[in-house]
Amino acid sequence: MTVLVAYASALGSTREIAQRVASRLRPALGEVQCRSVEEIGPVSGYDAVIIGSAIHNQAWLPPARLFLARHASELAGRPVWAFSVGMAEALPKPFRRRGAAIQENRLARTLVREVPLRGHRLFSGVYHAAQMPRPLRLLFRLTGGRFGDLRDWAAIEAWADQIAARLGKGGAA
Ligand SMILES: Cc1cc2nc3c(=O)[nH]c(=O)nc-3n(C[C@H](O)[C@H](O)[C@H](O)COP(=O)(O)O)c2cc1C
Repeated sequence: MTVLVAYASALGSTREIAQRVASRLRPALGEVQCRSVEEIGPVSGYDAVIIGSAIHNQAWLPPARLFLARHASELAGRPVWAFSVGMAEALPKPFRRRGAAIQENRLARTLVREVPLRGHRLFSGVYHAAQMPRPLRLLFRLTGGRFGDLRDWAAIEAWADQIAARLGKGGAA
């Protein structure tokens, strides 16, 4: 089986999540390639595709959206999972879980208009103070917001393992 893990990343945290997903899938599935969406030609040679993008302004990065639109018909013929990388875990605690659920569902609804998905997951990435306009930083901190590497590697690996299990059971058919 040949699997593609495609990603669009502005500052690298989504790329590292894609690389971790790929290295987790490899022992179970064999050939797993991990590439930036901008480096990928046709997807017809892949049996399954996992695609992830950083979220900017509540949407996937333009190269990821372009990738979905450009390859929509080929992607529709194979199993596709998607993941989005945002900053829900940076929010003040009372808003984290609910904010993530709303964002995960809203993005999934947008993405399935382009391509049928086997699943979609939202992960938190890396969010540094420098990424927020300076006048908002103090207010954000004072209301319980936080900055840093918010990636939950155990959750990312568990999600990759679920995909490996589904593909391993003939799930590419
Ligand atoms: C300009 C900008 C806009 C962002 N907009 C959002 C957003 O709307 N929702 C969200 O959850 N995270 C947002 N983020 C946070 C990023 O998605 C998060 O930092 C992610 O880890 C970035 O991934 P990358 O390192 O692969 O670029 C934004 C970050 C930047 C720099």
